[in-house]
Amino acid sequence: MRAACVAAKRLGRRLGFVPTMGALHDGHLSLVRAARADCDVVAASIFVNPTQFGPNEDLAKYPRPFERDCNLLEAEKVDLLFAPSAEEMYPAGAATFVHVEGMSERLCGKSRPGHFRGVTTVVAKLFNVIDPDRAYFGQKDAAQAAIIRKMVRDLCFRTEIVVGAIVREANGLAMSSRNVYLIPQERKQALVLYRALLRVQKNFDEGEREVAKLRGSGANVFKSEPQVQMDYVEIVHPQTLEPVENLSEGALVAVAAKVGTTRLIDNIVLPATK
Ligand code: PAF
Repeated sequence: MRAACVAAKRLGRRLGFVPTMGALHDGHLSLVRAARADCDVVAASIFVNPTQFGPNEDLAKYPRPFERDCNLLEAEKVDLLFAPSAEEMYPAGAATFVHVEGMSERLCGKSRPGHFRGVTTVVAKLFNVIDPDRAYFGQKDAAQAAIIRKMVRDLCFRTEIVVGAIVREANGLAMSSRNVYLIPQERKQALVLYRALLRVQKNFDEGEREVAKLRGSGANVFKSEPQVQMDYVEIVHPQTLEPVENLSEGALVAVAAKVGTTRLIDNIVLPATK
């Protein structure tokens, strides 16, 4: 893959990279299209990264429709696909990790200890192999995108990070590879995440600027779906992920919840206020 990427970048051609864990949906494909529009050569990876899953999470059952994914990437004219094995990415005895301290313990990092360390470790490895000019990540994992930006800055990677907008189903549900786990009743219940965000947005649009009240209004919406186990509704700085007290610099409103056994996340961004 390294040789193919070096060859692809000859003559100053720009290489765009879309890292994925497969089970591709329109959210991933929107990133591939953005890369295709911006870059001369597009690489994607499919790797279900074991180090970002906790011991009781869904690593074993994570969907792996590899042939389907390959067909989708081919249809989008992806030039290079990297689909390494776990042994290639983590040779026996691998003991080196990349950990963005502080940020990795916020939002999902609280309830999924080690998750972001696994993400930054694998993304650093992928960047070392592929050395892309630009890499594309989805805004749905806003914390992941912010943490990767920080890693890129702190470790002097040359790659520019591009974050693509959340792609939603017609009913508002944010697209996620994990949505395939949801049974029809849970798909309806899962809409509570977006409803909570819309409530916060509405209150903000109507002039509410008190962070605790905005947060509380979002959390209240979860009471309408007692089957859904809310993990958090947080209002944080979009770059540092630290809780904010005022909205002067804009804010990320992030939610996470378990619907049945499926953990889902979603978010919106509130603009800076005077
Ligand atoms: O967002 C994902 O799919 C994964 O976290 C990533 C960035 C491919 C790393 O495994």
